[in-house]
Amino acid sequence: MIKEITHNLYYVGVNDNSKVLFERLWPLPYGVSYNAYLIKDKHNVLIDTVEYPFNKNFFDNIKEVIADENIDYVVVNHMEPDHSSSLLQLIEKYPDIKIIGNKKTIDMLNGFYGITTNILEVKDGETLQIGERTLSFHLTPMVHWPETMMTYVNEEGILFSGDAFGAFGSLKNGIMDVDANIELVTDEMYRYYSNIVGKYGGPVEKAIEKLSSLPINYICSTHGPIWHEKISYVVEHYLKMARYQSEEGVVIAYGSMYGHTADVAKNIYDALNDAGVKNVVMHDLSDVDASFVLRDVFKYNTLILGSPTYNSEIFPKVADLTVKLEGRMIKNKTFSCFGSYSWAGQAVKRLNAFAERMEWNIVEPQIEIKQAGLNVNIKALSQQLAENIIKAIRN
Ligand code: FEO
Repeated sequence: MIKEITHNLYYVGVNDNSKVLFERLWPLPYGVSYNAYLIKDKHNVLIDTVEYPFNKNFFDNIKEVIADENIDYVVVNHMEPDHSSSLLQLIEKYPDIKIIGNKKTIDMLNGFYGITTNILEVKDGETLQIGERTLSFHLTPMVHWPETMMTYVNEEGILFSGDAFGAFGSLKNGIMDVDANIELVTDEMYRYYSNIVGKYGGPVEKAIEKLSSLPINYICSTHGPIWHEKISYVVEHYLKMARYQSEEGVVIAYGSMYGHTADVAKNIYDALNDAGVKNVVMHDLSDVDASFVLRDVFKYNTLILGSPTYNSEIFPKVADLTVKLEGRMIKNKTFSCFGSYSWAGQAVKRLNAFAERMEWNIVEPQIEIKQAGLNVNIKALSQQLAENIIKAIRN
């Protein structure tokens, strides 16, 4: 699939509809695209490559654009192998090609691929004239790795943004934002961001601020659609995620072995809906991948975790989620928890300790039932919790 995005700028990326788990971790129900771009000018310039197993289509796309012309430069905005692992094959096909990267890129080029020659090092803000166009290079460390940078075409306001503004989902319906189902792309952007980049909110915000003075007509990310008609939407949305800002809503995520913790979860879910809380979603962590729960945690301002006590600890599926949440240093949450135990309760105590470490706003009552909790008025406690959550999030 190639397409001219604007005069002499071509999409030469590929769709991956076969991979099951991105990074061998994150499900891909809608696939993923590895985006690469080719600028035709006095000097032809490729921006990024694609993941190695998919590079046949990529090289075919390039050929379709430039036939037997040479490629003079390849800009490596990001070294993660989903974008860099075709570099050796690229060099084989275009032996004179110069690789453009920054100091940190150079170290990684050697470490990943043993590439040490034909490299042009660029510094923050440096420019390169490629004919009619001028490229400028902007270092944006930790969006998502330390070497990440963005490349900008000064004359046309085209930003090649690396992973930033990217989303899961292959580009089946076309490569531009106007071709996309924005609701689905937004969901898959939440998932890409929360799963992959979520730890680096600070650097993402800094990068957006750093580039805010540049007029931008196109944002060409390494994943997902090219943003042109909806640039202000995507920038605003991305900033919101970077700042851990979320909308009213409650995520109930729980584990349950024999249905007792699930019963409390259902009561809380009903109580929140009855009380008129917007966007109440519930996940049984034995049924759903944490990827989707992280998406919802980034979307909504309240998290309620439920866990049985298991070997005197938090149930493993719930504990695993807490590790992922802590790893992303998620801020600004209203929190509560619930649980069950058979002879000695530990889960609720440990979940509270986790929420205190995260410096979240903890709301009570926290329902912890012994065995089936037959003598506990779970419904009434759930209603009380729902009322208190509303007070906490609407104040
Ligand atoms: Fe899509 Fe951080 O690589």
